[in-house]
Amino acid sequence: MASHLKEQLAFEEFLSQLSSVFVNVKPIEVDSRIKSALQSIAKFLNIDRTGFGEVTSEGLLILQSYELPGLSPMPRVILEQEFPVYMSLIQRGEVFRMPEDLPPEASRELDYCSSTGLLSNLTIPLKSMGRVVGGFSLELYRRRVPWPEELVHRLCLVGEIFSNAIERKRTDIELRSREASLSNAHDELRQLAAKLLHAQEEERRRIAREMHDDWTQRLALLGIDVARLSNESEIPARMREPLLAMQSELVRLAEDVHALSRQLHPSILDDLGLVEALRSECSCFSRRERIAVEYVAIGGDHELPKEISLCIYRVAQEALRNIAKHAAVAEAKVSLQVSPSRLLLRVEDKGIGFDSESMRSQPGLGLSSMIERVRLIGAELTVLTSPGCGTVLKVLITIDGSTR
Ligand SMILES: Nc1ncnc2c1ncn2[C@@H]1O[C@H](COP(=O)(O)OP(=O)(O)OP(=O)(O)O)[C@@H](O)[C@H]1O
Ligand SMILES: [Mg+2]
Repeated sequence: MASHLKEQLAFEEFLSQLSSVFVNVKPIEVDSRIKSALQSIAKFLNIDRTGFGEVTSEGLLILQSYELPGLSPMPRVILEQEFPVYMSLIQRGEVFRMPEDLPPEASRELDYCSSTGLLSNLTIPLKSMGRVVGGFSLELYRRRVPWPEELVHRLCLVGEIFSNAIERKRTDIELRSREASLSNAHDELRQLAAKLLHAQEEERRRIAREMHDDWTQRLALLGIDVARLSNESEIPARMREPLLAMQSELVRLAEDVHALSRQLHPSILDDLGLVEALRSECSCFSRRERIAVEYVAIGGDHELPKEISLCIYRVAQEALRNIAKHAAVAEAKVSLQVSPSRLLLRVEDKGIGFDSESMRSQPGLGLSSMIERVRLIGAELTVLTSPGCGTVLKVLITIDGSTR
């Protein structure tokens, strides 16, 4: 009686150690922990061979085996194929013993017992959320034991510990695979955004060239024709004034088309560089929006890669547009500092500002395309603002001699 109690206590102790090992087990360590737990169980209960199997995409697969010297490891088999009756018993989710619980039609299983000399097997199915996720078994080759109910009950507790660990491992694998596909989708989205920005620039460039080279020329010629017509001696005097009005309207139209074409794609950027293109954009913006812009440029821009110039130009353009649209101010400031190693663009206003945190989570099209453009050239955009405190938008680029 005393020795039975001692045994019981020792097993309780063993169980609590096992559960404390599994409480904090990392998902990646689950398999190896199960293996060493099986080893300890075999030693503790004097078992000849223990095995563990898990339901994988292929079926229930034997993954772990621990055996005494002289016994071969459990074969890595898919149980559905090799031992169909054993598998159907496991699927019931109840503990079973072999050969006792084997029905007469379990010919393969019975053959296995007699050919390997297996005298007794106890199998504990592992369940998680009502599904069988695996099982482990204890096998005896040197003696036959009746597997007392008390022991079976404790081994079922071990089974629960294993099941929880397997569940955690699976959740972790699932989480990682979702994270991976999310990050792939994110990458694809960014590539798509880059392609879209590129296509948009190309289209703008094409339309701008058409407007500049064709439409403005044709309007200028039309203006000349109207001027010539108004000077003709046969033209009645009453027609002269409307013709002159038509001529100046044509000049204004040509100027507007020219300005729009420059907004669409600034050829000045290619011809005179970023510093001058920004100067011209600031003064056009000032005239158009009636907002005084102080423009300060420090440093030259001859070595700047084209994609950097275009990005900075587009960011400044959108930042100015936002000032006109949202800031409610009459003044703004744009500064550009270029040195061989860095470029800093600042666009600031002392207007109404906005809540940058809420904007970060749900930016508008203007801000998101600025962020995307800046990210594509490997730089970062900072917006310092709060309601009532104006807005400072900064782009800092470190230029390392390559494209950056
Ligand atoms: N300089 C600014 N002053 C005040 N609010 C600003 C300023 N710049 C941006 N905002 C705020 O940030 C929001 C997002 O700007 P964003 O450029 O992304 O969108 P939008 O200007 O509203 O629309 P879109 O640029 O697509 O035409 C604006 O709606 C505005 O509330
Ligand atoms: Mg905008």
